[in-house]
Amino acid sequence: QKQCLDNTSSLPLQITNIPSEFIWPDHEKPCLTPPKLEVPPIDLKAFLSDDPKSISNACSKVNHACKKHGFFLVVNHGVDNKLIAQAHKLVDEFFCMQLSEKQRAQRKIGEHCGYANSFIGRFSSKLPWKETLSFHYSADESCRTVEDYFVNIMGEDFRQFGIVYQKYCEAMSNLSLGIMELLGMSLGVGKEYFREFFEGNESVMRLNYYPPCKNPDLALGTGPHCDPTSLTILHQDQVEGLQVLVDGIWHSVVPKEDAFVVNIGDTFMALSNGMFKSCLHRAIVNDKIVRKSLAFFLCPNEDKIVTPPKELIDKENPRKYPNFTWPSLLEFTQKHYRADERTLDAFS
Ligand code: SIN
Ligand code: FE2
Repeated sequence: QKQCLDNTSSLPLQITNIPSEFIWPDHEKPCLTPPKLEVPPIDLKAFLSDDPKSISNACSKVNHACKKHGFFLVVNHGVDNKLIAQAHKLVDEFFCMQLSEKQRAQRKIGEHCGYANSFIGRFSSKLPWKETLSFHYSADESCRTVEDYFVNIMGEDFRQFGIVYQKYCEAMSNLSLGIMELLGMSLGVGKEYFREFFEGNESVMRLNYYPPCKNPDLALGTGPHCDPTSLTILHQDQVEGLQVLVDGIWHSVVPKEDAFVVNIGDTFMALSNGMFKSCLHRAIVNDKIVRKSLAFFLCPNEDKIVTPPKELIDKENPRKYPNFTWPSLLEFTQKHYRADERTLDAFS
């Protein structure tokens, strides 16, 4: 595995004592040896096979996990392993470039997409120990593609990046529709309701790159947050780092080859009338090796009204959240952003 340990552009490896902006308050400092979270692996192929036993087995596992913490794994997911490997390889290639190159994609203030790097221009405290690149994906074929984005922002040489991530996002969008069938069945509302809701999704993809850190006990790769989006499909490399707060204790989600980590976001929590939980999570860093993750954030098309199916509302379970659209939730979370709270800050 190639790692840019000689990368002078992004600084962290040259720092012996990390800058104070990366040191988190005592009560938020990471636990580096957490207990493991029990995340059930769901065999998606078996679920989609129409075998009643496999379906009910998958549904009961998902129902249990999503009522407790909202995290589960999917295996036998049908996504080409070569595509996943290519997507990881290009993460290395992108973040190993000189800073000035990466800054051609620099995220502008107030925008969600582009390149962000906490190691330069450190203007706030509790900074995450990472670099990221985020971009939009639209399931509507008439919209701009990821390929166009890379070529427009970075130039013709980056067309291949765009082609690979367009394919990867298409695979994630399709996978998420299969997972929506699973969530619908698990909630007892049938396969179609959520699947239809997310056809034509307008989603976001983020590449996370966490360089080694001399003081992993003081810093965090990604601070505690809940994802405001509907569903997150994460592919982490084999380096442990993702943690979830369950019963007041941070637990590790151990990487499993050939599995995607799926978690419920706030928008799906609202769609399920609060039945399925969106849970606080964070990422820790280590002092030895780069950690990478690919995050696909499924978001509804902007016209869709987020409202739960009537089967999930009754006297015992009255409506928990008002109707909203995804852009209005995003605007709200930006105005009310508080980094250390259960805020909706996956886009920060
Ligand atoms: C991860 O890198 O494992 C998760 C990052 C996030 O939740 O934003
Ligand atoms: Fe997240």
